[in-house]
Amino acid sequence: MGVLSMKGGDGEHSYANNSEAQKSITSDAKPEVVKSVNEMIVKMDFPGCIKVADLGCSSGENTFLVMSEIVNTIITTYQQKGQNPPEIDCCLNDLPDNDFNTTFKLIPSFHEKLKMNIKGKCFVSGSPGSFYTRLFPSKSLHFVHSSFCLHWLSKVPDGLEENKKNVYLRSPCPPSLYESYLNQFKNDFSTFLRMRAEETMPSGRMALTLVGRKTLDPLSKDCFKDWSLVSDSLLDLVSEGVVKESDLESFNLPYYNPDESEVKEVIDNEGSFEINNFETIFGLLFSYKTGRSEVKDDCDDDVDHSRRFEVVKKRANLARSIIEPMLVAHFGDAIIDRLFEKYIYHAGRRYDTLRNKPTVNFFVSLTRK
Ligand SMILES: C[S@@+](CC[C@H](N)C(=O)[O-])C[C@H]1O[C@@H](n2cnc3c(N)ncnc32)[C@H](O)[C@@H]1O
Repeated sequence: MGVLSMKGGDGEHSYANNSEAQKSITSDAKPEVVKSVNEMIVKMDFPGCIKVADLGCSSGENTFLVMSEIVNTIITTYQQKGQNPPEIDCCLNDLPDNDFNTTFKLIPSFHEKLKMNIKGKCFVSGSPGSFYTRLFPSKSLHFVHSSFCLHWLSKVPDGLEENKKNVYLRSPCPPSLYESYLNQFKNDFSTFLRMRAEETMPSGRMALTLVGRKTLDPLSKDCFKDWSLVSDSLLDLVSEGVVKESDLESFNLPYYNPDESEVKEVIDNEGSFEINNFETIFGLLFSYKTGRSEVKDDCDDDVDHSRRFEVVKKRANLARSIIEPMLVAHFGDAIIDRLFEKYIYHAGRRYDTLRNKPTVNFFVSLTRK
């Protein structure tokens, strides 16, 4: 389970340096997070201490962008009502193998940027462990945030023996493979909700962003584009004799991108939370932002090849920052550079079909009943 953690540090392939796409989607969800924090405070009648958790914080600054927004919203809401600011407990959770050190080094600048009147009243701590287990005492949390985590399963589903040439679902494949993934997602997401239901106070809130899919068909090409690039790259390495066929056959990702009805069904069946809002946020797969200006995949046939390469490489680095630890644990680290050269090659070849396909992300706002 530990190898599910993203690539740590602040090097070229680290998560900290390759998570612009996640940051951009999380920014789009900010107004809804602010609204939810605001409503929670009023409903709970301005508590003296507020405990907030970011689950799956990873390494890098994304967690603090969210925490700053939450903390500043709390302060503003109290100020507007003429109330003294509360003490705020910010708990950062991830798996024990996560590179917490890279994240913790950013705490001083997080404190530095907070509004003056919260200085000395905001406490940050790490809470290592799986969010599919209990992490916090009963009824202790006021607000839970989690972005880009819940499509990661607690384990690779059972029953994937037939999935020999792919690292995830890809058409054509027997329906039983899809069912294995779906069942694992349902079990895991339901467990996640049950654990949080025990930890969250009545009227506490959760804001969750996860990768989803728009189409009902789980085998639609739109659903697994990144991972099919990884499968094709591994197949190349098998044919070159660099990777053993049996190693590819036994490797599957603990990942599932649900559709809206699958997410809602689990929430309804588990029963502890009410859905306040459910939104779909689209991102562009083959685009990225540098600073404030977005570089898009607007190349035509007379395409600027060096820019196309730059965009594809950026995408490869994003995939690498997420799955390199999993690949290294299974295949060893000797193949990684070569594998992502192949990834860039395949992504470049499919650039025209992939470039305008948006990524699908769900934002869900929930209240503890
Ligand atoms: C793509 S990163 C998201 C990081 C950050 N929230 C963001 O939006 O950029 C997903 C994170 O979820 C964490 N994660 C996955 N499964 C987890 C689990 N069962 N418990 C805790 N963290 C988990 C991974 O270790 C990883 O750091």
